[in-house]
Amino acid sequence: MTDSTENTTEGPLTRANACIHERHDEALLCLIERLTILDVAGAREALEELSTDMARHLAVEDATTHPRYAGLVDHPRGAAPELFEADHVSHGKVMRSCEEALAALDPGDSSLRREVVLILPLFYRLRNVLEHHTLREQRFLYPRLDDELETSELERLVDALSSPAGS
Ligand SMILES: [Fe+2]
Ligand SMILES: [Fe+2]
Repeated sequence: MTDSTENTTEGPLTRANACIHERHDEALLCLIERLTILDVAGAREALEELSTDMARHLAVEDATTHPRYAGLVDHPRGAAPELFEADHVSHGKVMRSCEEALAALDPGDSSLRREVVLILPLFYRLRNVLEHHTLREQRFLYPRLDDELETSELERLVDALSSPAGS
């Protein structure tokens, strides 16, 4: 259901999800910046925060918006519910690889710069996975829910996504 008072065709769930994903991408870029100045402690802190925030978002989606979308019929090609599930699994796997790589860095190692250069692609891989999933959700899943759900349900789902414990 689209809010007719808005000057945009984007519905509330699509906007709420976009805000969360933009925040995650910005946090990831800040983390990569920390790596480029060899600030291992700062990068670890940033990754821990991002990992927690992303895991919360995925868990809320897995419990609310994704099953709601899966319950609808006639999903378009490239937007089947199982593809969204697979995206979330990829997210988790790549995030774990990033965490392991960062945990293995020794800040006192004389070859620290080389080690950072070698693990940087993992963080761009995480960014690519996030970007791909963002596009799929913003093009298909959330616009469909915005179009088909009643206002009260949309409000409830926006609250679930946007609450500090849910985003
Ligand atoms: Fe999302
Ligand atoms: Fe998602």
